[in-house]
Amino acid sequence: QENKFQAIISHAKEYGFVFPSSEIYDGLSAVYDYGPNGSELKKNIRDYWWKSMTQLHDNIVGIDAAIFMHPTTWKASGHVDNFSDPMIDNKDSKKRYRVDHLIEAFADKLKEQGDEGEKKAGDLLAEMDQLLAKDDYAGLKQLIETNKISCGISGTCNWTEIRQFNLMFDTKLGSISEEADTIYLRPETAQGIFVNFLNVQKTARMKIPFGIAQTGKAFRNEIVARQFIFRMREFEQMEMQFFVRPGTQKEWYNFWKEERLKWHLSLGIAKEKYRFHDHAKLAHYADAALDIEYEFPFGFKEVEGIHSRTDFDLKNHQEYSKKKQQYFDNDLDENGKPYGNYIPYVVETSIGLDRMFLLILSEAYEEEMITKDDGTTDSRTVMHIPAKIAPTKLAILPLTKKDGLPEIATELMNDCKYSFKCFYEEKDAIGKRYRRQDAVGTPFCVTIDHQTKEDQTVTIRHRDSMLQERIPMSKVKEIVLAAIQ
Ligand code: GAP
Repeated sequence: QENKFQAIISHAKEYGFVFPSSEIYDGLSAVYDYGPNGSELKKNIRDYWWKSMTQLHDNIVGIDAAIFMHPTTWKASGHVDNFSDPMIDNKDSKKRYRVDHLIEAFADKLKEQGDEGEKKAGDLLAEMDQLLAKDDYAGLKQLIETNKISCGISGTCNWTEIRQFNLMFDTKLGSISEEADTIYLRPETAQGIFVNFLNVQKTARMKIPFGIAQTGKAFRNEIVARQFIFRMREFEQMEMQFFVRPGTQKEWYNFWKEERLKWHLSLGIAKEKYRFHDHAKLAHYADAALDIEYEFPFGFKEVEGIHSRTDFDLKNHQEYSKKKQQYFDNDLDENGKPYGNYIPYVVETSIGLDRMFLLILSEAYEEEMITKDDGTTDSRTVMHIPAKIAPTKLAILPLTKKDGLPEIATELMNDCKYSFKCFYEEKDAIGKRYRRQDAVGTPFCVTIDHQTKEDQTVTIRHRDSMLQERIPMSKVKEIVLAAIQ
């Protein structure tokens, strides 16, 4: 599995999905750039989420708030005081670790040692969860020391005490002057939604229950940055805050838990690859929280969070801003009286776009052995990316560069390119061109050959089955459209 993960990382780079950021300067830790195929795939995942939220739910609207926010936002939200993680430094290597990441990495190593190791890892993680829930730093340090974590199974390590480390990046607003104010790069997009709650509710004339969706960059000064784009310092979130009447939050929490899992499964991913993980330790704003976990090549890990955030955020923004954050509910309660004014409760769904991207790569990547008709074997690397989010939908390939075939291919290209992303190529043997499209996940290839000139038919090749069919050229667009909608 570790090999598979390394293969995915190399493949992502070789085929223009993901590059280390500023690579010519040896990269920047936990920061990545998306290449031509990566930026298309990322955009398609974002659009798929956006459509499912704002188009398929008629009580959800979108916004696009700024990354910079008034600094008091982060006082009110609790991030200045609470958005920190326990850290520990190794005095010998001078390396700093987030305590939970350090223990998790050690548990991953244990898991490689068969059934016994699996069990030990499970016990270790359970103990860590309990200690974290109690903020028991002495206990956590003891756990690290008795397990000789990060020093191999028998070595010793010289650790500092455990302490808190705030994950927010700060910068200065305005020119460098005495009045220059410290502001933060947002560590979650959610606060842009909370501070706009009334603007949106009033202008879009929303009635509770309703949601506000947003996608955008978030920044966290993660200490242990590992596992490629799984944990980044600059990343993108897709978040939705659902505003509900107090007392109904449990029901909506359960609704969104199932609704979000359905979204994942709608991409054709097997249910067994997912599980829910209820939080033992709740974030400072939540009364219930769970992770939707996916089985990455390095084990089950969080891809999305569902959080019941109570009225924590709106209540604090009301207190700090001195502006009422209330909603007037004129629906009638069981006594026939309007519910009246209240601060709504919030159920949030929050998914990392980059993490979803890694999920798609992990799910799609296959090194496939193929038995050919003559009994010989061959192999191909294929990305089974769902057609609706694939970077390119259709490759149009004239068999040769002459005899009028490129002209026919260009005609098809011009007919299709307004409807979906197409790719045109006339170089190299057709088999080689098919393999390149398999490697970037293009679901359909169409070949234009001499017969096309006679009867206006083309060969369409399906990526996953490698099946080839002869069809009228006039049908190509509708076949692709049917597969991507
Ligand atoms: N507004 C709630 C919130 O931000 P979170 O659990 O801290 O909750 C939500 O983050 C999601 O954002 C995670 O499930 C994960 O997919 C993604 N995420 C968080 N930190 C990340 C990081 N450093 N790199 C990539 N994705 C991250």
